[in-house]
Amino acid sequence: MSISPQRDFPNPAQTWNQRFGGDDYLFGTDPNEWLCEHADLWLPGQRVLCVADGEGRNSVWLARQRLAVDAFDLAAVGVAKARRLAAEQGVSVHFAVADSDALAWPSAVYDGVAAIFVQFADPPARERLFTNMQRCLKPGGVLILQGYTPKQLEYKTGGPPLASHLYTAQLLRDAFRSMEILELREYEDTLAEGTRHRGRSALIGLVARKR
Ligand SMILES: C[S@@+](CC[C@H](N)C(=O)[O-])C[C@H]1O[C@@H](n2cnc3c(N)ncnc32)[C@H](O)[C@@H]1O
Repeated sequence: MSISPQRDFPNPAQTWNQRFGGDDYLFGTDPNEWLCEHADLWLPGQRVLCVADGEGRNSVWLARQRLAVDAFDLAAVGVAKARRLAAEQGVSVHFAVADSDALAWPSAVYDGVAAIFVQFADPPARERLFTNMQRCLKPGGVLILQGYTPKQLEYKTGGPPLASHLYTAQLLRDAFRSMEILELREYEDTLAEGTRHRGRSALIGLVARKR
């Protein structure tokens, strides 16, 4: 597995494995709210990829919606906890430990991609990630994405403290210009996602369909 140097930490796998080392689920076990609000995007049986899902809260919830879910994350410790969460909740998710840059991204196989707080990626890595996310969708497939905006640097209630990793509406419009934007919302909310996403937060959510 190769790790490119332009990431938010010198050794991201080690950093995230350490963070996930405790018994608690850092971002909780409940799914992200933006994702839940859009539960009706896919039909039971459809195939969804959950990007960098850490300890599995979103992929497990998607599987509970009777979707066929693949999920990956760089951190083996997080993925082990995700597997445990799926077993506890009686669902099956196909998990992989993988760096987003090393994953063998398939072409046009998914009905959906969920990318919730994947702001580990700096601009070059983000461009590759967003390209791969779009490529792996079938025509008509839907992407859902949640992140923080630059205003989050004032709140300091979660996310990377790096402006270059955060999203503006224009950045997302440009990155997903070949898709049909169904919803793009900049908003504020008070998050209570485990211990790491907690408090007033400057958020952005996107839903877009591949043409
Ligand atoms: C802020 S956490 C969000 C986790 C999950 N999406 C959620 O909402 O609970 C960011 C995740 O990105 C993962 N990550 C960091 N760099 C990565 C990379 N290059 N490839 C895949 N996953 C990565 C981390 O291990 C961590 O689980």
